Amino acid sequence: MRLTIASVLSIAAFSSAQTITGQFSCLPAGQYQLCQNLWGASSGTGSQSSTLVSNSGNAVSWSTTWNWANNPNNVKSYANVISNTAKGVQLGNIASAPTSWSWVYNSQSSGIRADVSYDIWFGNAQSGSPATIASSYEIMIWLSGLGGIQPVGSPILTNITIAGHQWDLWSGPNSNWHVYSFKTGQGDITNFNADLVEFFDFLISNEGVSSTQFVQAIQTGTEPFTGNAVLTTESYSVAINPK
Ligand SMILES: *[C@@H]1O[C@H](CO)[C@@H](O)[C@H](O)[C@H]1NC(C)=O
Repeated sequence: MRLTIASVLSIAAFSSAQTITGQFSCLPAGQYQLCQNLWGASSGTGSQSSTLVSNSGNAVSWSTTWNWANNPNNVKSYANVISNTAKGVQLGNIASAPTSWSWVYNSQSSGIRADVSYDIWFGNAQSGSPATIASSYEIMIWLSGLGGIQPVGSPILTNITIAGHQWDLWSGPNSNWHVYSFKTGQGDITNFNADLVEFFDFLISNEGVSSTQFVQAIQTGTEPFTGNAVLTTESYSVAINPK
């Protein structure tokens, strides 16, 4: 058989899964990076690993296995994928930002406390790393929040409909940026398809967020507090299409 570039690429895309275990290790995953980000690990005891299952084009599949105890109100980590491409565009210049995310808990201990969430970063500059001096806003979209955990701040709106789903909007400060969290009001949303522009426009129209803000980063992952679970993202994609 003639080994074409395409067949070499498809072999690469389906090579055996890679797992990372380090506190801040990351893996290249096509248009994404898969990162452990165990930023709150010192508030408890336990461990987490993250596995890149596959990536192809704009889609990525990955899983994470976690086991955390102590300080049940503290986030232990945010294992996530971050897009290398969906960023650097001002809110007012985005035509669409399609995303889809299907995920499943393969296993979970009773009473786990964890969210499954987008973490999206806005700032004044075209580029900036998440959770830094460059950040103006952190936009979370919680597709799941188990065990009575709460977003940053307090609820300011309940049961609003965006992208065909019901949400409670939470608002509050964190470090040098402001956090808005859209928390599912209808239980777990395990098969999510949306245009993120609907969330961005809501914040521009109702919360005074400037359309000159840049999307600096889009992450998706899970924030575990306590318990243990295996969470698999069967398929995830996000893109920003400029005007
Ligand atoms: C939330 O909003 C939806 C859609 O408007 C409505 O069907 C539902 O009854 C509302 N739920 C509550 C608890 O108000």
